Amino acid sequence: MEKNLKMSSYMRLLMFLTGIFFMMYFTLEPIIDMFEEPVLVKSEEIIYVNNSGCFLRGWRSPAKYSPAAEPINLLQCPKPQLMSATTKNGTNFLVPKEISQNLECKYWVLAALDFQSNKVLLEGHFSLKRGENEDIQIGVGQQIVRVKCQGNSNGTKYHDVHFFVPPPPVGNLKPKKNGTEKLSVMVLGIDSISHMHFVRNFPQLNGFLESMHTKFFGYSRVGPDTRANLMPFLSGINSDEADSESLFSAEAWLWERFRAGGYSTAYGEDSTEGVFTNRNGREKFPSKPTDFYLAPVLLEMHSRTRYSLDLRETVYCTAGRQFQAILRDFIDKLVPHLQQRPFFSFFWQSQGVQEYYEFAEQLDQPYWMLLRSMQEADILNHTIVFLMSDHGLRSGDYRSSYQGMAEESQPLLLAIYPDWLKFKYPLAMGNFENNSHSLITPYDLHETLIDMTRLDKLQNSQMEERTKTLHSHPPESLPRGISLFLPIPEYRTCELAHIPTLYCFCRKHIEIPHDDGLVIRCSRFMVESINQQMKPYSKCAELKLHTVVQAYFVDFGEESFVHELRLGVKTLPGNGEFEATVRVSDALVLSSPISRVNQYKQQSHCVSDPYIKALCFCT
Ligand SMILES: *[C@@H]1O[C@H](CO)[C@@H](O)[C@H](O)[C@H]1NC(C)=O
Ligand SMILES: *[C@@H]1O[C@H](CO)[C@@H](O)[C@H](O)[C@H]1NC(C)=O
Ligand SMILES: *[C@@H]1O[C@H](CO)[C@@H](O)[C@H](O)[C@H]1NC(C)=O
Ligand SMILES: *[C@@H]1O[C@H](CO)[C@@H](O)[C@H](O)[C@H]1NC(C)=O
Ligand SMILES: *[C@@H]1O[C@H](CO)[C@@H](O)[C@H](O)[C@H]1NC(C)=O
Ligand SMILES: *[C@@H]1O[C@H](CO)[C@@H](O)[C@H](O)[C@H]1NC(C)=O
Repeated sequence: MEKNLKMSSYMRLLMFLTGIFFMMYFTLEPIIDMFEEPVLVKSEEIIYVNNSGCFLRGWRSPAKYSPAAEPINLLQCPKPQLMSATTKNGTNFLVPKEISQNLECKYWVLAALDFQSNKVLLEGHFSLKRGENEDIQIGVGQQIVRVKCQGNSNGTKYHDVHFFVPPPPVGNLKPKKNGTEKLSVMVLGIDSISHMHFVRNFPQLNGFLESMHTKFFGYSRVGPDTRANLMPFLSGINSDEADSESLFSAEAWLWERFRAGGYSTAYGEDSTEGVFTNRNGREKFPSKPTDFYLAPVLLEMHSRTRYSLDLRETVYCTAGRQFQAILRDFIDKLVPHLQQRPFFSFFWQSQGVQEYYEFAEQLDQPYWMLLRSMQEADILNHTIVFLMSDHGLRSGDYRSSYQGMAEESQPLLLAIYPDWLKFKYPLAMGNFENNSHSLITPYDLHETLIDMTRLDKLQNSQMEERTKTLHSHPPESLPRGISLFLPIPEYRTCELAHIPTLYCFCRKHIEIPHDDGLVIRCSRFMVESINQQMKPYSKCAELKLHTVVQAYFVDFGEESFVHELRLGVKTLPGNGEFEATVRVSDALVLSSPISRVNQYKQQSHCVSDPYIKALCFCT
C-alpha cells in the first residue's frame, strides 16, 4: 500500500514534468528500480500533529551516529576548586577549602549589573595557610569577585570568578494567595534539544513531570539558529526585522513587558556567545540589565579564567566548574527571591549540548533536581515553567540522517504549571492543552507570554470574545503569532504559521534516488544559486557539485500544483554541505534560503556577512 502511494505521488510529478522537462528525461532510470529499497520499520512512532494543515510524526529510536572521540560525559574540569561563595546573614564571604599549600591571593570586585564596563570597584588581598582558614569577608549585596592565588615559588594556583546573590531580607511579602496574584514565568532553555532527544535522554525528568505538564508536540523552529528562533519568542519579531532600526524597539523584549507589569526580572546564560550577542554586536539583550543578571559574571570568566574541557575547545571551565554549573548555581541562588515576588526569568544553557549528541543525557539529573527543588520551595505553585529549546542538533553524524534532519526542526517545548490554573481559567487552559498537538511557533509563544502579564484576559468571558475575533480572520490573514490560550485553527499550515519550507516537515517526504536526472539538475541549480549569491564577494571560490547527499520529494497532496524537492548537496572546494528546497514549476525556483549543515570554522574568514560566511570558501 505504502509503496503504491509513494509511486503514485512521484509518478504524478514525473507526468507533470514530462511536459516541461521532456528533454532531460532520457537519463531517468526505470521507475520500478527506484523503490526497491527496503522500507525501514520505525519503532515507537509518535504522532505529533494530525490536522488538515499538517501531519507530523517522530520516532523514538535514534538514527545512527558515531560517538565523539572523547568520553564527553565523563570529563571533569581538571583544575581545583579552592573556594566557594556564600552569603551569611547579609554579608558575602569566600569560603576556602582543602588548601594544601600557603597561598597569596589578590581579588577584584566588579559591578554586578554592568556588563559594558567591567569596572573594578575595589581590590584587595589575603593570605591562605595550608589547612584550615577563616572565611574571607568581601562585602554586601550583589557582587562579582575575581580571585587569583599564587604559591611561594611557582605560578598561578587558582584563578576564578565568584558571584553573590544574597537572599532577600526575611519577612518580605509572599505572593498574594487570592485572585490578584500574578503568575511567575520561568523559561528554562536548553540549546539543540529536539523533542525526541528529550524523550530519549531525560527519562527521570520526564517521569517526574508526568502529571504536571503539557508537551507541545507541534512546536516548530522558524529560523536556522538560536537567535533566529529566540528573537521571535522574546520580541515577537524575526531576526531580519530586528536588524532594521525602525521595527525594533527595546520595549518589545519580554523582560521589559514583564517589568512594566510589575515583575522582577532575571536573565542567565552559560555562554557569552549565546543569545545576547548578535551578528553585528548592535543589540544586546536584554538591553537594560535585568534585576538579576549573569552576563557580567560570564564575561569576566570568559575573558579571564576560562579554559577548555574538550579537544574541540567548545565546553568551558573556570577553576573546577563547568560554565553550565555556574548557570545552575545562579538559579539556585535566586530561589529565595523566586519564592517571594512575581518573576520573569529566562535561563539558557548551550555549552556542550549543541556540540555533542551524548551530552544531553548527563543533564537529566541536574534539571530534575532543579525542578524538584523548586517544587519543594513552593515555587511551582505560582509559576509556569517553559522547558524548551530552539532547534535540534545542527551538525554532526546524527544530523545527516533523515530523522536527524527532521528533529532539527522539532525543538522541545513543554509547560509545567499548577493545577489551580485549570480551574480558574477553564477555557483558556482547555485551549492551551488542546494545542499540544497543534502546529505552533515561537511567535505564538511570544503572544502566550504577553497574555501572562495580563491574566484577566484569560477569563472565560474574555476568551469567548477573543476566540470570536480569531475565527473572524480568513485563513490567509491569520495572525502570525496566536496565543496558545486560543484555539489554533486546525487548518493552519507551515505557510500560515510563517514556518519556512526548509523547516517544515508537515508534508510527506519521499526519498528519491540521488542519481535521478531531476535531482541532479535541481542540485546543480542549487549550487549555481549559491555561486550567484556569492558573486559580489570576489574572494569566495566558485563551488561545484560534488555529490548529492539527500533527495526527497515533498508530497503536497493530490490537488496541489506545487512540486518541491528537498535536497542536500556536498560541494567542492571545501566540502561544504548545504540544504535547500527547490520548487519545480515551469522554471526551477529556490524556495528556501540555503542552509549550511556542516561546520565551516575558518573557511570563510575573508567575508563578514553571516549568511555569506556560511556559503563562502575563501580562495
Ligand atoms: C489522523 O486523523 C484522522 C482523522 O481524524 C484519522 O482518521 C487518522 O487515523 C489519523 N492518523 C493517524 C496516523 O493517527
Ligand atoms: C545578623 O546580623 C545582625 C546585625 O547585622 C545581628 O544582630 C544578628 O545577631 C546576626 N545574626 C546571626 C545569626 O549572626
Ligand atoms: C609547584 O610547587 C609545588 C610545591 O610547592 C610542587 O609540588 C610542584 O611540583 C611545583 N610545580 C611546578 C610546575 O613547578
Ligand atoms: C497553591 O496555590 C493555590 C491557589 O493560590 C492554593 O489554593 C494552594 O493551597 C496552594 N498549594 C500549596 C501546596 O501551596
Ligand atoms: C485579595 O487580597 C487583598 C488584600 O489581602 C484584598 O484587598 C483583595 O480584595 C483580595 N482580592 C480578592 C479577589 O479576593
Ligand atoms: C479540547 O478538545 C476536546 C476534545 O476534542 C474537546 O472536547 C474540548 O471542548 C476542547 N477544549 C476546548 C477548550 O476547546
